[in-house]
Amino acid sequence: MKDMAYDEFIERLRSQSDIISVISDYVPLKKKGKNYWGCCPFHQEKSPSFSVNPEKGFFYCFGCQTGGNVFNFIMKVENIVFIEAAKVLARRMNIPLPQKEKSPQEIANEKELAKIWRANELARDFFHACLTKTRYGKAAKEYLERRGVTDKVIDDFKIGFAPNAWDKLVTAFTERGIERDILLKSGLAVERTSSAGILDRFRNRIIFPICDMRGRVTGFGGRVIDNSQPKYLNTSETPVFNKRNILFGFDSAHKFIRESGKAVVVEGYMDVITARNFGVNNIVASLGTAFTAEQAKQLMRYTDEIVFAYDSDAAGKMATMRALTIVRGLGASVKIISIPDGKDPDDFIIKHGAEAFNKLIDEATPLLEYQIRQALQGTDYSNLEGKVAVVAKVVPALAAATNAVEANAHIAQVSQSIGIDESAIRSEISKYLDLSQKDKNVNKGKTIRMVALSKNIDSAVIQAQRHVIRLIWEDDTIIPYIQAQLSIEEIQGDLYREIIKSLFEAYNMGKKAHDVSSAMTLNEAANTELSHILLIDLQHDDIPKLVDDCIKTIRIAHLKELYEQHRLRADELQRMGDSRFLQELAESQRIKHEISKLHYS
Ligand code: UTP
Ligand code: MN
Repeated sequence: MKDMAYDEFIERLRSQSDIISVISDYVPLKKKGKNYWGCCPFHQEKSPSFSVNPEKGFFYCFGCQTGGNVFNFIMKVENIVFIEAAKVLARRMNIPLPQKEKSPQEIANEKELAKIWRANELARDFFHACLTKTRYGKAAKEYLERRGVTDKVIDDFKIGFAPNAWDKLVTAFTERGIERDILLKSGLAVERTSSAGILDRFRNRIIFPICDMRGRVTGFGGRVIDNSQPKYLNTSETPVFNKRNILFGFDSAHKFIRESGKAVVVEGYMDVITARNFGVNNIVASLGTAFTAEQAKQLMRYTDEIVFAYDSDAAGKMATMRALTIVRGLGASVKIISIPDGKDPDDFIIKHGAEAFNKLIDEATPLLEYQIRQALQGTDYSNLEGKVAVVAKVVPALAAATNAVEANAHIAQVSQSIGIDESAIRSEISKYLDLSQKDKNVNKGKTIRMVALSKNIDSAVIQAQRHVIRLIWEDDTIIPYIQAQLSIEEIQGDLYREIIKSLFEAYNMGKKAHDVSSAMTLNEAANTELSHILLIDLQHDDIPKLVDDCIKTIRIAHLKELYEQHRLRADELQRMGDSRFLQELAESQRIKHEISKLHYS
């Protein structure tokens, strides 16, 4: 429903909502000066660092750097997407939703989905009853008991059993009027190969229902109770079941994940079930496949610390490492637990108890350290060949590091351990980054060049850019002046470039600055920084002078960067005996001259 009515609806919500009253429903707030303060609902704290500015309609937490407008707050606290947050707000404010006509196709699709959800829910109850109330479930019940799965856990997870027969579920469900088509589409039944009939997909298996965040049953996993193969059979891909998105146990674990500030990810159903039975609650399973970015994003709505407790054979695998590196690239802090003596978490907890497992979680190793340890452990680096092999192994890990301090510490450590110069390792990292940048599919948009070159934006430049943003926000008529002086390329850092670009674009399209945040055009990090900027104290008396000073600071920083680039290229060309180095040198001198002119202007 992206149209006029929709835009008006959102604008009305934004301008008429009262952010203080909305947030007060979740957090007690106290007024201090212009802002209201409270304890942040997004991280644990004892003294308030969460502030709300009612005039501007923003919140920002100085503790965990979360921020945004009233929509962002509802999205975060309720874990819902933008449009859902808008609906919540509309309901609160008694504003009717803009109506949109659905096509007959959409109506048909929605009906079919509802039927699939319903069939899954009935199937969960059917399997659960078979396990707990009928003689078919006897052997399965005994098997579960042997593994320490209590009646309470069976009830909590609604564990079930699919009887050892061809069509118990199909027959029962057909009698209830569930259509054959829905039985097939939900993956509960499969077509017979020999005749026209259909039969149960799950037979003679313990059934673990898998739910989405809202507790709706999306599919099932079924385990044999003997040694037959495959050990686990899962629902195949259906309109509501997509393995890449699923985290087993997430529907009941999410509040514990937020509370504890970390999510533990294991591989198997039984790992989650046993952990929960022993009181480790912030735990989900990725169900045996490589962890995906989709799964990570779901967890990251609750925490940015993800601890992986994979079976020891799986943890070190290349595919796992690649997946985890991607997760860290999304901004999560990734840690790894190595479970002693090749056990899985289920075995470990049963043998050593929850406390020992919690200790492993607390002492989990950060991904980068883990990768470096693996490289050092797996290679004999007493000779040159070994040293080169270690460097080749650690370079991709270091190049992907998001924290420059951490990366630098590890570069020093590796250099010492294997007796290779730090600068040699750094130059390998630079080479690696150049190569992966050329291959556009790798590291797209998220090259961490900054780490290798240790480049950080100067704090004076950050301050100048924040001033510029704040001044535009307060009075967007200064935009033409700034646009005439400063180009977007001169802004330092993606965050600030994105914010200023959006502000310029909004202005050019005749929109107000605050549309930038309510229309959700900014990515989350930029939006958060924007809220931050709008809440911090920035002194400004002489605005025209301040604007000019800021522009100057930003321009000088940009020129210095250009100067460095030309210098480096000149060096490189000279080393290769290429006479074009003279041109580069001349250009760098020209830039240097411009910088000193600016300094004295
Ligand atoms: P594991 O083989 O480690 O099983 O597979 P497990 O979780 O320890 O199970 P138990 O303790 O033997 O009962 C880990 C996960 O991989 C998926 C399942 O989700 C399983 O929990 N898997 C495994 C399958 O989907 N199919 C299989 O055949 C095996
Ligand atoms: Mn196991």
